[in-house]
Amino acid sequence: MRVGVLTGGGDCPGLNAVIRAVVRKGIETHGWDILGFRNGWQGPVEGLVKPLGLDHVEDILARGGTVLGSSRTNPYKVDGGVDKIKSTLAEHGVDALIAIGGEDTLGVAKRLTDDGVGVVGVPKTIDNDLAGTDYTFGFDTAVHIATESIDRLRTTAESHHRALVVEVMGRHAGWIALHSGLAGGANVILVPERPFSVEKVVEWVTRRFERQYAPIIVVAEGALPEGGAEVLQSGERDSFGHVRLGGVGTWLAEEIADRTGKESRAVVLGHTQRGGVPTAYDRVLATRFGLHAVDAVAENDFGTMVALRGTEIARVKLADATAELKTVPLERYAEAEVFFG
Ligand code: F6P
Repeated sequence: MRVGVLTGGGDCPGLNAVIRAVVRKGIETHGWDILGFRNGWQGPVEGLVKPLGLDHVEDILARGGTVLGSSRTNPYKVDGGVDKIKSTLAEHGVDALIAIGGEDTLGVAKRLTDDGVGVVGVPKTIDNDLAGTDYTFGFDTAVHIATESIDRLRTTAESHHRALVVEVMGRHAGWIALHSGLAGGANVILVPERPFSVEKVVEWVTRRFERQYAPIIVVAEGALPEGGAEVLQSGERDSFGHVRLGGVGTWLAEEIADRTGKESRAVVLGHTQRGGVPTAYDRVLATRFGLHAVDAVAENDFGTMVALRGTEIARVKLADATAELKTVPLERYAEAEVFFG
C-alpha cells in the first residue's frame, strides 16, 4: 500500500509530530510506502512529491512548522484541479491520503472523498475552532506563547502606568484570547463571538487605573466593537471579510488613550503564536492523531477525521467536522467576566 501525506493551511506547531507518527507507524507496522506531498493541495495538483523514509522523520518531533511546506491552494478553485490530483495519485500509485489541516484543507478532503479519493483528515489549527474535536494541536502552544507575552507585557505596562492591548490570533473564534487572557490574568478579554462596547472597556480600564494597576486588554484579531467593522478607523478587511491582523488592537489602544487620557500601547503577537517548538501536550496530541490516522487508513475508513474526545482519540465524519466552526460558547466567555476591571 502507498499512502500520501500533506499539510495544508496556516502552519502550526505539531505538524511534524503528526508526519513522524504517520511515517513510523505506516512503515514499521504496515510496511507501507509513505509519500510526502509538498505545500498542501498544491503537491498533488502539481505532482510535487517525495518518498518519506524513517530517516526523514528522525529529528522532526520538536521542530515547528512543517517539513512538507504548506499553502492555501484549493484544488476546487484550480482549473482541472481535481483531475490533476487523481492523475498524480494514479501516476505514483497512491492508494490513500492523510490530509493534515484546518477547516479549508479538510473541507477539500471531504469533497475529494465524495469524488472518489480516499482521504483521512487530521485536525490542525492554533485557533482551536474546528468542530468535532475537543482540542486541535497547536492551540496549547499558541496559548503558552500568548500567556508568556502577557506576563512580560504586564511588567512593562506597570512600570510605565500604561494600558496594554495585546492582540492575539483568532479571526472567527476567541479561544486563544479566552485561554491566554484567563491564564495571563487579563483585565479585559474581547472575542469575535461577542461584539464589545468601547464605553464598557473604558470603564474597566479606568477602574483598573484607579486601583493603581496597569490594565491588560487581550483582544482576538476578529473581535469587533458594537456597530461592526465600520466603526474601526482602518476598517480594512481580509478576504474573509474580517478586520485585518493588527487592526482592532491598534484601534482600541488609540480609543483608550483618547478617552482616558492615559498612555496606551498595542502589541500584535501575530505569527509568533504559530512559530517555534510545540509544547509537550501538542507533541503528544499530534503524535496520537498521526497514529490513529494510520489506523483509519488501514481500515479504509475514509471521509473521517481523527478527533480528541475527552482523553480518547475518536473518529468523526469530515462532513460533520467541516460543517461549522467551533466558536466560544457565550457561557464560557461569561466565566471570565468576573475578572474584568
Ligand atoms: O491558522 C489560522 C490563523 O492563525 C488565523 O488566526 C490568522 O488570522 C491566520 O491564520 C493568518 O494567516 P496567514 O498566515 O495567511 O497570515
